[in-house]
Amino acid sequence: MYRTHTCGELRIAHVGEQVTLAGWVQRVRKMGGMTFVDLRDRYGITQLVFNEEVNAALCEQANKLGREYVIQIVGIVNERYNKNKNLPTGDVEIIVNTLTMLNQSEVPPFTIEDQSDGGDDLRMKYRYLDLRRSCVRKNLELRHRMCIEVRNYLSDLGFLEVETPMLIGSTPEGARDFVVPSRMNPGQFYALPQSPQTLKQLLMVAGFDRYFQIVKCFRDEDLRADRQPEFTQIDCEMSFVTQEDIIQTFEGMAKHLFKALRGIDITEPFLRLPWAEAMRRFGSDKPDMRFGMEFVELMDTLKGTGTFPVFNEAEYIGGICAKGCASYTRKQLDQLTEWVKRPQIGAKGLVYARVQEDGSVKSSVDKFYTPEVLLALKEQMQAEAGDLILILSGADTMRTRKQLCELRLEMGERLGLRDKNKFALLWVTEFPMFEWSDEEQRLMAMHHPFTHPMDADIHLLDTDPAAVRADAYDMVCNGVELGGGSIRIHDPHLQAKMFEILGFTPEKAQEQFGFLMNAFKYGAPPHGGLAYGLDRWVSIFAGLDSIRDCIAFPKNNSGRDVMLDAPAAIDQKQLDELYLQIDLPTAEA
Ligand code: AMO
Ligand code: AMP
Repeated sequence: MYRTHTCGELRIAHVGEQVTLAGWVQRVRKMGGMTFVDLRDRYGITQLVFNEEVNAALCEQANKLGREYVIQIVGIVNERYNKNKNLPTGDVEIIVNTLTMLNQSEVPPFTIEDQSDGGDDLRMKYRYLDLRRSCVRKNLELRHRMCIEVRNYLSDLGFLEVETPMLIGSTPEGARDFVVPSRMNPGQFYALPQSPQTLKQLLMVAGFDRYFQIVKCFRDEDLRADRQPEFTQIDCEMSFVTQEDIIQTFEGMAKHLFKALRGIDITEPFLRLPWAEAMRRFGSDKPDMRFGMEFVELMDTLKGTGTFPVFNEAEYIGGICAKGCASYTRKQLDQLTEWVKRPQIGAKGLVYARVQEDGSVKSSVDKFYTPEVLLALKEQMQAEAGDLILILSGADTMRTRKQLCELRLEMGERLGLRDKNKFALLWVTEFPMFEWSDEEQRLMAMHHPFTHPMDADIHLLDTDPAAVRADAYDMVCNGVELGGGSIRIHDPHLQAKMFEILGFTPEKAQEQFGFLMNAFKYGAPPHGGLAYGLDRWVSIFAGLDSIRDCIAFPKNNSGRDVMLDAPAAIDQKQLDELYLQIDLPTAEA
């Protein structure tokens, strides 16, 4: 037997027992004639003791151990003299009798401890060493437990887990596809699924009525902290359901997961916020509701009531009230103005107004407005002495709201209102069915082209498609979209109409989605579903800033796996087999 116990297992009750442990050397400390070694494995750390006076040769052997050497020891569990309260095994130590070297290690490129000295790139290059750190490993343990809970929960409700293929056809809607050339079908390509959307709908046609799958999805899009090119969905679909049934089922699952994985009781029902209201009050379809600081629209108060040209020309003026921030210095406010003007935010500038101790208002636009207008502003913002009013304006309402949303989140962060241990869950509903794409010069489906319009709006499809709302919903937590779904179209005529509005000719629709439209001719049940983003759920539970930290081998922001050094060029022979030719633009081009 390599080991009788793990390094996280031994307690006072084991004192006196002979044990065999195996693991990695975390640290070696020499103190007088004693050598202490912290031995680590997945389960914890146990202190080993070597006494020069008792066994000089063995102690000598221990003194030669380096970080991350793999060893096996046999020894007796002893009660520790100075107990370590921070370690579950901190009451005991092992008086070692035999030490076997199982493997040596080069000096690791960074310290393998919670507070590592390794930068991001280095840790990603040696991810297998990074994963030895307990803070990283814990995230993967949480991920594992989450998958188990999900499988049990859904399975108990009669959901069947069905695997769908990874090599499918390319679909034009949504993000960019990752494509895979086919050797046996020269010149033709598979695409990796952006989600199993159409396949799960076909499973509904097949009568599977409750499907789920914990499934890899692939999207070739720009990466952010909460986006990876390959990520995992908890993908679900149900037949004979309404939006209400789906919301209740997955709200129940959310409640269960919070209880099982974080011990937190979430109150139901979750808030439901129509999309238009979310945009008006928070400038976002995934508002962070852990704090207020809601938008106040100020067109009536500030447009045309003074001589400030910026506001007089604006299509939208909105403000937020930062409690207790009137003490911000001129320098801090200038910095905040520069912050909103960064290209990532894109605001043209920032107007601020401080409410003084005597209730009067001191603003950056004093010379353009009478004191009465500024007092009306204070009133409308419900600002009190000591508060700071921040105002953005612009010619494009949506764009300006998004900028104000960024500012709100930043102020929430600065004021400590975005507590990682607080969870504000809600559903955003009544999304617009379509959004205009400047790039494509046509309407695009906001969710996907299989989404059912809200029944009340179907009559607008021909006359005013932009006003049609979708029977779609997103679950949001702390400003993160945790999942989303919709009721689907199951009527082939309505589906054909949808493709028509999206600018597909009947031939093109048949070519790309014929398999689905044909299936719908054979008795498709009413159905709908949702997909949760597993990586995002785990990040929320673990309080992570990036989903990378809960993925064993993630990609960096350029979509590279720096450990495997992928993507990379392939051999000419491989290219030849696929009849592929590389034609990169020259530097000048
Ligand atoms: P959607 O595109 O909204 O819906 O995706 C569902 C959920 O998947 C997660 N997600 C991501 N997570 C990490 N990295 C990414 N690049 C990424 N993209 C999406 C999000 C998101 O809410 N087929 C539909 C679902 C349905 O209608 O049933 C779909 O894929 O948490
Ligand atoms: P400017 O006319 O660009 O010199 O701006 C005059 C003042 O208005 C400065 O304090 C800017 O920060 C502010 N400002 C400019 N554009 C906007 C805007 N779109 N929203 C809010 N404040 C602005």
